[in-house]
Amino acid sequence: MCGIVGYIGYRQAQPVLLNCLSKLEYRGYDSCGIAVNNGHLRGFKDAVRVEALKAELPSLEGSLGIGHTRWATHGKPTAINAHPHFDCTGKVAVVHNGIISNFEELRLHLLKEGHTFVSDTDTEVIPHLIEKYYQGDPIGAFQTALTRLEGSFAIAVLFEKYDKLLVSRRESPLVVGIGDNETVIASDVPALLEYVDNVIYLEDGDTAVISKDGVLIEQNGAAADRTVHHVNWDRSKVEKNGYDHFLIKEIHEQPDVIKDSLSGFFGSQEEEKDSLIDSNLSGLTMLGCGTSYNACLVGKYIFEELLGIPVRVESASEFMQRGRIISSPVVIGLTQSGETADVLLSLKRLKKPQVKILVITNVPGSTASRIADQVIYTAAGPEMSVAASKSYMAQLIELFKMAFTSKLLDTATRERLLKEFRSLNVIVQRVLETEREIAECANILARSSTAFYVGRGINYPTALEGALKLKEISYIHAEGYAAGELKHGPLALLDEKTPVVALVTPEEVYGSMVSTVKEIKARGSPVIALADERDDSIASIADFVIKLPHTSGIFAPVVNVVALQLLAYYAAKFRGCPIDFPRNLAKSVTVV
Ligand code: AGP
Repeated sequence: MCGIVGYIGYRQAQPVLLNCLSKLEYRGYDSCGIAVNNGHLRGFKDAVRVEALKAELPSLEGSLGIGHTRWATHGKPTAINAHPHFDCTGKVAVVHNGIISNFEELRLHLLKEGHTFVSDTDTEVIPHLIEKYYQGDPIGAFQTALTRLEGSFAIAVLFEKYDKLLVSRRESPLVVGIGDNETVIASDVPALLEYVDNVIYLEDGDTAVISKDGVLIEQNGAAADRTVHHVNWDRSKVEKNGYDHFLIKEIHEQPDVIKDSLSGFFGSQEEEKDSLIDSNLSGLTMLGCGTSYNACLVGKYIFEELLGIPVRVESASEFMQRGRIISSPVVIGLTQSGETADVLLSLKRLKKPQVKILVITNVPGSTASRIADQVIYTAAGPEMSVAASKSYMAQLIELFKMAFTSKLLDTATRERLLKEFRSLNVIVQRVLETEREIAECANILARSSTAFYVGRGINYPTALEGALKLKEISYIHAEGYAAGELKHGPLALLDEKTPVVALVTPEEVYGSMVSTVKEIKARGSPVIALADERDDSIASIADFVIKLPHTSGIFAPVVNVVALQLLAYYAAKFRGCPIDFPRNLAKSVTVV
């Protein structure tokens, strides 16, 4: 978790590095720093955000440099622990994302040999190891040092009086952006978009030597050919474009995300498709973390309801801890970043000839996409806010598309639902138009220290997602609960200071949701109900009603989640929270 960048080319490195780092702050922002090499190596770092570092920095001349933005794992977020880290001579500078699991042992050896450490980080062993092995050949020293490292890493190294950038990766992501007479490396594509359109996703174990003349990639001592991918992400998607926060911009992008996800879908869904969820499938396992896990739960309802396939949903962080792995013939991994360590480890454990792995991810070339037997790329575009919104929407749309293209779905249901599916972007746009009313309800949440979100059936995962959104960006404690479970315990917590957000959408669960709302009201809790625009009776029971466009029950997750995203956003805004950069969180969780 942390972002690294590097630059070599014709521009001054300092502004490029800082610009790229600012696009990577979603990966961590406890502290940051850069080092620039123009024959002489100079570094600067502090426990501040990138914007503040810009103001503090002296001008570091040179067109070769590295940078880092940190999410602390080993050692507190202080200036000393910030990257780059140096060897004893100050002639080797290193930035690192990942965890060196054998750093204590290495550090002890290096201390015995007389090396001096200044930080509490695991990373600092890397420049000292390189120093130890350096005998006039930077590449050799780097490669020997790599053989001593255990754990995960993406590393970039500068040597004084050496005009090349050395990088390597194992498990942590690293992308090499190829421009005209310049190369930019970064942990993730959004950081590079301003400078390059073509990227190489380094493979596990790759080492690259990057000079002004180009990039040489090696794996196990042999030259490795890697595909150059053209990235056609819209650059404006990595800017706020007048919005106060990335999150609200990304919430508003959702109608377009739906349109993009459906582009080319209508007309083609009748075609014969080689789908993993058709042929005599006895069961499906879906896994993910956080918001992607919640999307899996929605997927379970979609596939079980529409296709009659039994679906098991696993939280990847739990699944990877299991002793015995019992797998279905098909596994679907959902991950926006494609780099979530818990998901990657789970998928690696599941990878067997008799198991087919399908990954739904937003990042082309991400590690998860390379583990998969089949990949579906979501059409969310780059998501900059730590809190996921449009990527969740894009995941839901892909799950619906899978169900609608399955031969297991009966024609009448397909035809009825496809009509609505086609206009979901317009329906979501209408939810966005209720923003002002939702913001008023958010005021109630903003004044509370705890809240409940309840739903039944397909709306239960949306209750979990709404609560997760509120927690992560507003710091208000929130519980997402299956409405029917309230009476089995949590009802004891309800009082007039505990607002409850109830998802009261029509169809099968409507009657039982109304009973739940009455139970809640009997305990004095204020109820904010999300209800169908055609529902005239809920207003007499709930305190506040957010009226949402009518849809079939199966599409309720699409409509409801947008309202809950807005609710969380405005609650966080009223509380003055740093919405795009919630404390203690990073967008890609690349550690377990
Ligand atoms: C979402 O708002 C969260 N920030 C987080 O739960 C996220 O969904 C989770 O870390 C999984 O990430 P992934 O989709 O990139 O695997």
